[in-house]
Amino acid sequence: MTFVFNQRDVPDHPDLGAMIKRLAAGEVVSDHDFDRLYPKVVQKLSRTHWTPIAVAEMATQWLSRSGADRILDVGSGVGKFCLIGGLTTAATYVGMDTQPGMVQLSKALLKRYKIGKVQFKAGDATAESWDTFTGAYLYNPFSQRFTFQRGGASSQAVAPDLYDRQGQLVYDLLEQRQAGFRVAVYCGYGRGLPPQYTLVAAELFGAGPLELWEKTQ
Ligand SMILES: C[S@@+](CC[C@H](N)C(=O)[O-])C[C@H]1O[C@@H](n2cnc3c(N)ncnc32)[C@H](O)[C@@H]1O
Repeated sequence: MTFVFNQRDVPDHPDLGAMIKRLAAGEVVSDHDFDRLYPKVVQKLSRTHWTPIAVAEMATQWLSRSGADRILDVGSGVGKFCLIGGLTTAATYVGMDTQPGMVQLSKALLKRYKIGKVQFKAGDATAESWDTFTGAYLYNPFSQRFTFQRGGASSQAVAPDLYDRQGQLVYDLLEQRQAGFRVAVYCGYGRGLPPQYTLVAAELFGAGPLELWEKTQ
C-alpha cells in the first residue's frame, strides 16, 4: 500500500513561515533550516536525495533569467526545487513524481505556506507531454525508488534496464523540444544531451556538477 503524507505530517513551528519569507526576500537560508519544513523521516533523506538550496537557487535563476518561464521538475521528490524556484524567481514550476505520497506532502506545503506559481502532480514525467514547458530540471531522477512507512523510509536502486529506458525517454523528449528550450542538469540523468544542445553554464558543487544547456537548433 502506498504511504501518503497529509497536512498533519507537516511540522508546525511559528518560525517556519518567517524562514519562507526570508528565503523569498533573497536572504541566506541553510538547508538545515529549510528542511525543517518536512517530517523527520523526509529530512533524513535530504542530503543525498533533495536538491541543496544553493543548487536550486542557481539552477532556477539560470533557467528563468535565460527565458524559461514554465519549468518541469522531472521527479520532484518532496518539492524542494520547485518551492525554492517559486519563491525566488519569476517562472512557474510543475513538479511531477511517481510517488503520490511525496506529491501529497509537496501539495500540503503549498497549501500551508500559500505558495503560488507552483503545481505538483503525481505521475511518470517521461510519459507526460512536455509541449507546454520552456525549461526542465533533472536531478539524477531515475536511480532510486523510495518506500515510506510511518516513522521510516528506505531507498532501493532501480534495475539497470529501467534506468536506461527512462534516460532514453528523456533524451528523446529533449530532442523533440523547440529551439530555445533550456534544461538544467544536476549530477546527470543517465545519458548525455542530444547534439542540438549547447552548454551555456556550469558550476561544480560538493555532490556534483550543475549544468545549463540550451537547444540551439
Ligand atoms: C533525486 S530525487 C530529486 C527530487 C527533486 N527534484 C529535488 O531536487 O529535490 C529524484 C526523484 O525522481 C522520482 N522519479 C523517478 N522516476 C520518475 C519518473 N519517471 N517520473 C517522475 N518522477 C520520477 C523519484 O521518485 C525521486 O523522488
